[in-house]
Amino acid sequence: MTALEVVRADITTLALDAIVNAANKSLLGGSGVDGAIHRAAGPGLLAECRLLGGCDTGDAKLTGGHGLPAGHVIHTVGPIWYGGDADEPELLAACYRRSLEVAAGAGLRSLAFPAISTGVYGYPKAAAARIAVTTVRDTLPAVDGIERVVFCCFSDEDRRLYEALLDT
Ligand code: APR
Repeated sequence: MTALEVVRADITTLALDAIVNAANKSLLGGSGVDGAIHRAAGPGLLAECRLLGGCDTGDAKLTGGHGLPAGHVIHTVGPIWYGGDADEPELLAACYRRSLEVAAGAGLRSLAFPAISTGVYGYPKAAAARIAVTTVRDTLPAVDGIERVVFCCFSDEDRRLYEALLDT
């Protein structure tokens, strides 16, 4: 049984097998959690990302953790919120599903997710949290070896959202 947890923390401080980065399609860094991860990881992360050739929305790619306490970074690209009629829910779900698939494929056992797309990309927080928890729960039976999934919130508002969902 995989443990699902909620924490309020800076994801760059988590010493797990992987942390998930809410990146953009270039994978060449940005602001928000993307900027924090690149700052904490150091220039080696960007150098490795340059070799990946970008990432489609809804997909996920793996790199090393470089200067981070985490062993790896899983870079995923969430959808920009345009109102909900541009496949945003399906694309956001794909970020969680593909990140778990990439983690399992690499033999990783623990990973943390930020609240993908809910910052710069404007996805409504409550709807995004529901998709995150539902998709993780639905995907875990289909992947092997994941022992711990952490929803890493950056605000008490987000933490309360995820705690309420995990209580259901
Ligand atoms: N640790 C954990 N969560 C964080 C951190 C951090 N250090 N910094 C920000 N967050 C949270 C935000 O509060 C938000 O809840 O991560 C969530 C995602 O917000 P963004 O980082 O803005 O990501 P997103 O909305 O997916 O937009 C992605 O922003 O930074 C650029 O390059 C990135 O173009 C891409 C876009």
